[in-house]
Amino acid sequence: MGARGVRYGRPMARLPLYATASRGTEPYLAQELEALGARRIRQDRGGVRFMADLDEILRVCLHSRVAMRVLYPLGTFEARGAEGLYEAARQVAWEEWLDARTTFAVDATLKDSEHDHSGFVALKLKDAIVDRLREKLGRRPDVDTRHPTYRVVAHLAKSTLTLSLDLCGEPLFKRGYRVKTTPAPLKETLAASMLIAAGYTGEEPLADPMCGSGTLVIEAGYIAQRRPPSLQRSFALEDWPAFSVKAKPLLEQLRREAQAQVRPAPFPIFARDRDEDALAAVKRNVAAAGLSPAVKIEEADVLRADAPEGPPGLLITNPPYGERLGSGGQKGMKSFFFSLSEALGRWQGWRLAILAGNPAFESAFHRRPSKRAHLWNGPIDCALLQYPPLGAEA
Ligand SMILES: C[S@@+](CC[C@H](N)C(=O)[O-])C[C@H]1O[C@@H](n2cnc3c(N)ncnc32)[C@H](O)[C@@H]1O
Repeated sequence: MGARGVRYGRPMARLPLYATASRGTEPYLAQELEALGARRIRQDRGGVRFMADLDEILRVCLHSRVAMRVLYPLGTFEARGAEGLYEAARQVAWEEWLDARTTFAVDATLKDSEHDHSGFVALKLKDAIVDRLREKLGRRPDVDTRHPTYRVVAHLAKSTLTLSLDLCGEPLFKRGYRVKTTPAPLKETLAASMLIAAGYTGEEPLADPMCGSGTLVIEAGYIAQRRPPSLQRSFALEDWPAFSVKAKPLLEQLRREAQAQVRPAPFPIFARDRDEDALAAVKRNVAAAGLSPAVKIEEADVLRADAPEGPPGLLITNPPYGERLGSGGQKGMKSFFFSLSEALGRWQGWRLAILAGNPAFESAFHRRPSKRAHLWNGPIDCALLQYPPLGAEA
């Protein structure tokens, strides 16, 4: 039992980084990273590797709509048994980052590992970090699982352990606007990826007729306003002694520049749902996102309502998958998807993008998609099905 591996050195001008993403959204993340100036971009399953300097890192943190975390890998090790985990973490020069004035936490994820519990892995790694720091510094930092200065992210795939520091702290999908939730909300990063996949740039009206807590309309509002999703939040690296002196003023400048680019949404955004709780949630979330004037919230049953007045645009939605099927079961869902297709016939000129997580959706919806993207909504294997403007089908 033991650990051997590669340790990366102190930060250079350009660091090797890894941004994580929901499965299926990696191409959109790679596209974003390229636009933000990152180099040597390589897609992986569940993330994208890239090189970036401090300015580019901060741009990624601020502007990425798709990335979940931005990680700085400190080392990759072969680690077997509890002892191997401990030895691996003992090899990393944590003292170059952490000191007794800072706090830390360890998050572990496991894939095909000999260990059953991520909490056990995190604990072993934490013990090794503490022991190394006590030996090197004579003191140790405290653990703070809620707001640590450093979040150590450990990923153990079989016996390969990667140890990284999370540059953002709270994952980037925590934009700060979700003050009220409803059952089965989309992750903000997945909603943004759906909009990017559907080619939404803000230059057309947009509607989500089954908006739930409003994730799609809020992410659309930010795209339409050219507003970075993380303008209102802070990032862990701002408090890291190695970065803070340069990062804080640079980030201030980037925030000012980004703020100056924000414009009013040029086209209306419609949020509809038939459920009272959903409407209450979307109202509060839209207000928290600062989008109240841009998003029009209406109570409506999609099976009965007409399209909004005015020019057509993009209808994007994720209908219920049927996890809480109620009395009708899967048969009821098929009939709902069939009726939905009929009802959307009233949305002449609108193009459709629908996240289908129920395998019965496509045939029950009985229209031919012009494009499809494979996405995962957490564990649910989904397809984003796109349909050409209604009335213009071949
Ligand atoms: C999967 S949830 C949408 C979640 C949403 N994308 C979010 O991020 O919070 C589906 C939504 O469809 C709504 N819904 C179901 N049937 C509807 C209907 N006939 N008309 C309007 N809304 C409906 C539900 O109330 C629910 O809020």
